[in-house]
Amino acid sequence: MILKFFVKKPNIIIALDFFNKDKALKLIEHLDPKVFSLKIGAIMFTLFGIKFIKELQIKGFKIFLDLKFYDVPNTVFKTIQSIENLGVWMVSLHICGGIQMLKSAQLALKTYRKKKPLLMGVTMLTSLDKNDIQNIGVNISIKNYVLTLSRLAQKCNLDGIICPGNEVLNIKNKLGDTLKILTPGIHLPDNIFFDQKNVITPLISKKYNIDYIVIGRAITSSKYPLIALKKIQIELHSD
Ligand code: C5P
Repeated sequence: MILKFFVKKPNIIIALDFFNKDKALKLIEHLDPKVFSLKIGAIMFTLFGIKFIKELQIKGFKIFLDLKFYDVPNTVFKTIQSIENLGVWMVSLHICGGIQMLKSAQLALKTYRKKKPLLMGVTMLTSLDKNDIQNIGVNISIKNYVLTLSRLAQKCNLDGIICPGNEVLNIKNKLGDTLKILTPGIHLPDNIFFDQKNVITPLISKKYNIDYIVIGRAITSSKYPLIALKKIQIELHSD
């Protein structure tokens, strides 16, 4: 069975956070690369590296390299330069790395001879709530925190932001539609994982007109991943 079932928006990105490469390959065997993109984060990149990304690209998948860069501008500049040959479709970095870091990332992309990846800025991790951000010294509301970082992303011409679903309407309201919006923390109501606090359902992501949703464990930890994915697609098709 190959899952096709095209939904215009949101586009689905599957987070492959597996220890086991074969498990990942077994799942994607059933996915149409014209419909689904794949997210490779620190786990699979550390374990299987560039070769694995190439393997997925040969199968036709667009890759979101989610390493969430956050470092001094010089390091981010060189990191972005050094991934040019990977040919990934999207990369992430933390907006709270500041203006100079964001500008350095943009400068590095300007040196590309190959197609540039979309540059997506992380506003706030979906695993954090108000208490958590207070604990790291952020004494404003989640709303204002995410808005402040999104403004910075817009100012620095990032392609988009990675944003908890519950903040999307406020961002669109205040900043318009120039930034692409990617939302992780997409979970089914009966299946919320302990470390994700700021979650929405697939149906809400459609209502909010989000461009991309990242779905991980709702599929990858399910006993029947393809059935879980199909359920999500059906939800995205309903009104
Ligand atoms: O399994 P689950 O669907 O919760 O996975 C979410 C994925 O999105 C993980 O790979 C995580 O690293 C990533 N992510 C997130 N929150 C962000 C940015 C990325 O959960 N703000």
